[in-house]
Amino acid sequence: MKNDKLRLGVNIDHVATIRNARGIGHPDPVRAAGLAVRAGADGITAHLREDRRHISDDDIATLSDVLTVPLNFEMAATEEMLDIALRHKPHACCLVPEKREELTTEGGLDAAGMHNRLKFFVSELNQAGIRVSLFIDADIEQLDAAVSLGAPVAEIHTGAYCDLTGEARKDELNRIRSAVKYGYKHGLEMHAGHGLSYETVGAIAAIPELKELNIGHFLVGEAIFHGLEASIHEMRRLMDRARAA
Ligand code: PXP
Repeated sequence: MKNDKLRLGVNIDHVATIRNARGIGHPDPVRAAGLAVRAGADGITAHLREDRRHISDDDIATLSDVLTVPLNFEMAATEEMLDIALRHKPHACCLVPEKREELTTEGGLDAAGMHNRLKFFVSELNQAGIRVSLFIDADIEQLDAAVSLGAPVAEIHTGAYCDLTGEARKDELNRIRSAVKYGYKHGLEMHAGHGLSYETVGAIAAIPELKELNIGHFLVGEAIFHGLEASIHEMRRLMDRARAA
């Protein structure tokens, strides 16, 4: 397990954020996805939000047609998003909480509290052959809920770990390590993401039970200075180095 390659899913939402600032077609997130794949992304992640603030319905349709790597479609658990997922049948769907007023996905899904509601979405997606993942905090109760819901994958929210400093960050990292181990032991494929940067990725990538990281905002920001391909190469290098250590 230790030397299993850690997959990198590149989230292209914020290429669409820049495009939408002008309401024209440039820069095209689908073109960015192609570059990301050439640079070594193992998958592409895109979040179609209810308010369509970045990724659009057309982006999802085009990505579904042209991508040569798995598409991880992030969605809120709503009927509208479920219909879109079932129409395009992406490789994977990651269920995320969504609040209209938030700047980004602030915390994990309350899989335990929303058990009855989520059951329907997880089973519809499972039945369609789409790999379901739940975006949750590093919390045993949430991992137990993911198992009992029949989701094959859990993605641990790393946002708090990235935002904290000093001892508080160390504590959160330990919580993430324990949660990843616990989920893996209980049969979940374990992923992580949110807020990761060159500075924060190493300690997360070193957790041997993790199978995939999803990273977006930092890579798109860094691309302004060094280009998207170079930024992905550097992230990949740091992940591989942490994994090998
Ligand atoms: N994973 C999930 C489930 C997310 O919702 C996001 C943000 O859309 C990410 C990973 C990537 O976060 P960031 O853009 O901060 O790297």
